[in-house]
Amino acid sequence: MKIIDLVEKGIWKQSGYVAPEFMGAVKMDANENPFSIQEPLRKKLLEEMGRVAFNRYPAAGAPELRERFAKYYGVKKDMIMLGNGSDELIQILCLALKGKIKGVLVPVPTFSMYKIIAINTGNKVVEVPLDKKFDLDVDAILDRIKSDFPALIFLSYPNSPTGNLFNRNRIEAVIKKTPGLVVIDEAYASFSGRTLLPLLKKYDNVIFLNTLSKLGMASMRLGFLIGSRDIIAQLDKVRLPYNVNSLSQTAAGFFLDYQDEFSLQVDEIVARREELYLGLKGIAGIRPYPSKANFIFFSCSFDSNRIYNSLVAEGVIVKNLNMPPLMSNCMRVTVGSKDENEAFLKALKKVTEKQGA
Ligand SMILES: Cc1ncc(COP(=O)(O)O)c(C=O)c1O
Repeated sequence: MKIIDLVEKGIWKQSGYVAPEFMGAVKMDANENPFSIQEPLRKKLLEEMGRVAFNRYPAAGAPELRERFAKYYGVKKDMIMLGNGSDELIQILCLALKGKIKGVLVPVPTFSMYKIIAINTGNKVVEVPLDKKFDLDVDAILDRIKSDFPALIFLSYPNSPTGNLFNRNRIEAVIKKTPGLVVIDEAYASFSGRTLLPLLKKYDNVIFLNTLSKLGMASMRLGFLIGSRDIIAQLDKVRLPYNVNSLSQTAAGFFLDYQDEFSLQVDEIVARREELYLGLKGIAGIRPYPSKANFIFFSCSFDSNRIYNSLVAEGVIVKNLNMPPLMSNCMRVTVGSKDENEAFLKALKKVTEKQGA
């Protein structure tokens, strides 16, 4: 037997998360904030980073930052845990939680990392398709809760890639009926103007996930878990001691200092989202879905693989989600700056006209 044969079967079978690298492209595939930090703020941030003691470990568990984010979210410090992006926190949840079986339930389609991380951490993955309106199919979820006992359920609010908010009553119906923990991932909540955070007071089996990645700090990898102090205390034992490096901690503090500037960018993105939606609607063969996030999901009446490749040739990169039967010829585009949106719409019009011809 070769050493490589010792790798878990689930890991062999899955292909991992593929993040394409296209230098110089109009990058609209990863739901990042299109605006980078401009002068004079950029200089201030670099000055703060210059004061980091590079020879020392970062503050373990980032207590000061947790205190500040606790205030930001209106909770107590011991209800917050920071992670190297929310991906790391998803991993910690998947490592730590186990019901009658080690299992994770996810609606589909949703954020692909839930499934990838669940498999990598030895969980059984239960996938339940969304209904035709991309909302939760509560009956199907409750059936699978009964038959499979997943310890964890991930719900993205708004959902990626579809961009909609699941119905709150349906979410609560799931929370009430599951013996497991429901993770409400609010990575895109700032763009929806809605949060379910008050549910923390109502139910003890919900936990919230959030991130700075969509708000202008994707490079710094800063995610949050917000939940009851009992569960956070246990999850904190799984966290590696220095999981959030000093530069990331500095950047997160800077985000809080200048949160008004970052909120203006959110407003701008929301305004651009509506323009982009109308632009997509105006292209023959393209059907965009309304979005409460910083991206728009759309279907094409063409082969989306070809559209994707033609867009790449035009220097524009979006996310191709051609995954039949649930998502045939679907794509997701991140809301960009005015110039990026225009470049994308122009390129899409050109390549769809060619396909249609
Ligand atoms: C729903 C959702 N949750 C979490 C993440 C990951 O965030 P982070 O960059 O903090 O790991 C993403 C990233 O695309 C996402 O779409």
